[in-house]
Amino acid sequence: MLNVKNPLKDEDLLASPEPCILVIYGASGDLTHKKLMPAIYNLSVDGQLQPNFVCVGFARRDKTNESFREEMKLCIEKFSRSDVHEYELALFLERLFYYNGDFQDSNAYSELDVYLKNLDAQFGTKGNRIFYLSVQPSSYLTIIENLTLHNLIYNKEDDRRFSRVIIEKPFGKDYDSAVYLKNQLLKSLREDQIYRIDHYLGKETVQNILIFRFSNPIFENIWNNNCIDNIQITVAETIGIEERGNFYEKAGLLRDIIQNHLMQLLSLITMEQPTSLDPNAIRDEKVKILESILPYNEEMIDKWTRRGQYKDGFIEGESVCGYRDENNVSSTSNVETFAAMRIEINNSRWHGMPIYIRAGKRLPKRCTEIAVTFKHNKNNLFTNKKGKNCNEPNSIIFRIQPNEGISIKFNSKTPRSSKILTPVNMDFQYDNYFGKEIPEAYERLIYDAMLGDTTLFARADESLYSWKLITPILNKWAFTTLKENEFYRAGTWGTKESDLLLENESRQWKRV
Ligand code: BG6
Repeated sequence: MLNVKNPLKDEDLLASPEPCILVIYGASGDLTHKKLMPAIYNLSVDGQLQPNFVCVGFARRDKTNESFREEMKLCIEKFSRSDVHEYELALFLERLFYYNGDFQDSNAYSELDVYLKNLDAQFGTKGNRIFYLSVQPSSYLTIIENLTLHNLIYNKEDDRRFSRVIIEKPFGKDYDSAVYLKNQLLKSLREDQIYRIDHYLGKETVQNILIFRFSNPIFENIWNNNCIDNIQITVAETIGIEERGNFYEKAGLLRDIIQNHLMQLLSLITMEQPTSLDPNAIRDEKVKILESILPYNEEMIDKWTRRGQYKDGFIEGESVCGYRDENNVSSTSNVETFAAMRIEINNSRWHGMPIYIRAGKRLPKRCTEIAVTFKHNKNNLFTNKKGKNCNEPNSIIFRIQPNEGISIKFNSKTPRSSKILTPVNMDFQYDNYFGKEIPEAYERLIYDAMLGDTTLFARADESLYSWKLITPILNKWAFTTLKENEFYRAGTWGTKESDLLLENESRQWKRV
């Protein structure tokens, strides 16, 4: 494999963010420990933080700056993707501060204002603020209302300072609640101040989908229902629900993975070319796709959707319990941990061509992949002894994770035979080619929020169209009890019913 290092210098790749203070609500939480702090540390190591960048952890527990730094040090050492160097880490920790407050308490906000202004004076952060809400979604509105009340959010467009808010999914729990949340947020914030995190958009391989499609014209002419037979998107995880029983009982897989991550992958792989790289131009095209997906009526839900819940089984040789035996899960729970769906996009490029999506917990492999399978060439030039056509359909596989890369399958002559073909792969692997470790999604997203680039964040209408699509399914599933054939053993590829969804149309799930 050719090993070419990235020919661009780092300064060609990245713009420079303005000075700012990042305030993390929920600084004692898991996300801060496992993802946010290691990501900010890696931005610092890669020279992507301004010298005048400061991070303030906001939480209720009683801590000092020193104890907070010590806690963050440990989690960076544990979860950082790159090696941790003592000197760099010490410099980084000096920029961390802890603000002890209750986000329900109005006084905490007026004092926070004074606190942040002092940091501005000390570090030259110019009044710029990013508030990262890594808290229960039910707290978003309380925090935003209080920030607004205490003038911590500036929403006049001519203000030279910026204030932005990053929020974590879920943005609502169904279509109506998502509309409500959107309307409430827009009372205090402009849309361009809201950064809705879907961490899949921060993955390098996901960003590469648009580059692959729109910078390589050889694929554009064949990217349609004339040439493509079907597209399959798989988001498979070996993990179960970990310690998130309470959350999962309210969410389920449709809300947790399909409404957001999977719909983002689907819109990127099928959207039209945007008129420019402006964030809104890109998001406009994604929205057009989501808007043109055939909506599910009762009959289509029965025909085109499947759900499942894992029973006990084996993952990588280890025995694991069933979903209903997980902590904080009801023993009669009806919640889905697996879903498969057939989707059709009603526009001229895709009309009539099926897109099959599936996602699940406790599947045999951790793997996110998009498989684009082209129509089978039915010419009989190459047949085996039994007269059977022995060429295979071409396909392009986008390996989002792990083994990030893209491979193209085509038929090749088998040496010494005249008619026997062997399907072979042309394979691009990120790590072979660029030789660099791929940054974590959160690094890119936090960095983009500092730059004020909303491209990789979900706009309100993207999220709403996606909710609109899945809400009828959520409603139906919530009121129908799981049947026997809707359970699958942990460590298998979901239910037999999901295989039938494709077999009924003479297709199969691609092996991942
Ligand atoms: C999160 C979901 O959004 O994505 C989790 O809440 C899931 O349930 C995770 O495990 C998967 O992310 P990744 O990056 O590991 O594919």
